Amino acid sequence: MGGPPPRYPSRGFDKDPLGVIDQGLRLCGPIFRMTVDGAETVLVGTSAGLGELFAAERGRLAVLNTALVHDLFGRAVFNLADDGHAEARRRLRTALSGRALSGYVVPLLEVSAPVSIRWAEQGVVDLCAAAREITLAMSTRVLLGIRPDEVDADEFATDFGRFVAATEVRPGRCRFAAARYWAGRRARRRLHALFARRPVSALAGVDPGSALPRLSSAFENAPTEAGLLTDHLLALLIAARETTASLITWCLIELARHSEHAERAVPEAHAAVTEPRLLVRRDALPTLRAVLAETQRLHSPNLLSMREAVCPIELGGYHVPTGMRVAYTPSAGHFDPEVFPQPHAFRPDRFLAGPVPAVRLWAFGGGAHACLGRPLAELMTVTALACALHQGFPRLPGGPPGQLRYRPAKIPFAPVPFVLERQESAL
Ligand code: HEM
Repeated sequence: MGGPPPRYPSRGFDKDPLGVIDQGLRLCGPIFRMTVDGAETVLVGTSAGLGELFAAERGRLAVLNTALVHDLFGRAVFNLADDGHAEARRRLRTALSGRALSGYVVPLLEVSAPVSIRWAEQGVVDLCAAAREITLAMSTRVLLGIRPDEVDADEFATDFGRFVAATEVRPGRCRFAAARYWAGRRARRRLHALFARRPVSALAGVDPGSALPRLSSAFENAPTEAGLLTDHLLALLIAARETTASLITWCLIELARHSEHAERAVPEAHAAVTEPRLLVRRDALPTLRAVLAETQRLHSPNLLSMREAVCPIELGGYHVPTGMRVAYTPSAGHFDPEVFPQPHAFRPDRFLAGPVPAVRLWAFGGGAHACLGRPLAELMTVTALACALHQGFPRLPGGPPGQLRYRPAKIPFAPVPFVLERQESAL
């Protein structure tokens, strides 16, 4: 085995993490060490590096979750390892991809259409808050079958808010002194009880547009090692939350900044709203899908995915000792000018014209822990875009956002005033 990867100073990481990673790659090559959150970390930042990382990860790299994440999420899929993890993924996937998706289209439109009508009527809204609102409405409806006018909706919203607040507590031992931590633990218990009493069988008037019946039957005879469905449901809701809201936010920002693409997308939006099955047809809505892909490339919601070496491994010819942190960036390769000319420009046409670049987008990660919700996240985003553009033309009256924050997901730091400007011919 070779020596340790070269070291790159992490100066400026808090303000411009992608810029610092990019510099590190240029100066040190695809794998290097730097300090992340106070700990020495091996960083993998190119597409080729990711291929190697994912090939090596099973049994050698464990997801690095804090004690807080273990407390709050229990035996949820991202806290599991080995066979239990693979088993949980296999069972969850049945409700999150493939044929299951077409059943979610109408419920998604039912919740997102009224939200976007409200945005258009309100005049100016804060884009990030609006994107979070529509994401939560869609996830609640599709994952749990809860409609906005149901009794459970208010209880869910209150307890989920408390649970989210607990995930933001500092993760060390000081968490035990935080009232929000304990409020979140109590909320978790109530949410589990709420999930358990949701109807899942046709006899109980089950909602066909929800993932819950499929998930319940997938976990009916699951071995203990595959974890509890109630833990998995909270994990799905949280995994969907900031990431999907971030993607919706950046799609709308870019459409507002590049009216030529919005103009081409608007007729597709009208078509999708009147013919919902277009939302799940990969060959339909080419402009909306190109905007989605280009936004994933330019604005990957997640900054880093963290692992810990559970035994010594070799990556890119370098030695990584047991216990060392390893991180990959889901933007790996997204700014490579050889693959994506003018990498910092928003050019959705690169996904329309000719063959899609051979190197794939990594915004949803890869390997053993690749995102399980990718098809649903993309469906939710295209649905939200279609509903918004059906109402009006996106505008940013205060101009594009300035300062950004990158965690838990890439999002403008300050509120972004956003308008859906109604056009004479739009409706
Ligand atoms: C734009 C939206 C989303 C993005 C960018 C995104 C991104 C990611 C990434 C990068 C990972 C890999 C993490 C790692 O390597 O440790 C991941 C994992 C995961 N995502 Fe997503 N995600 C999104 C939406 C969703 C949605 C909607 C769901 C569920 C409904 C979901 C469920 C999950 C789960 C369960 C995992 C963990 C898988 C495992 O540990 O085996 N995600 N996501």
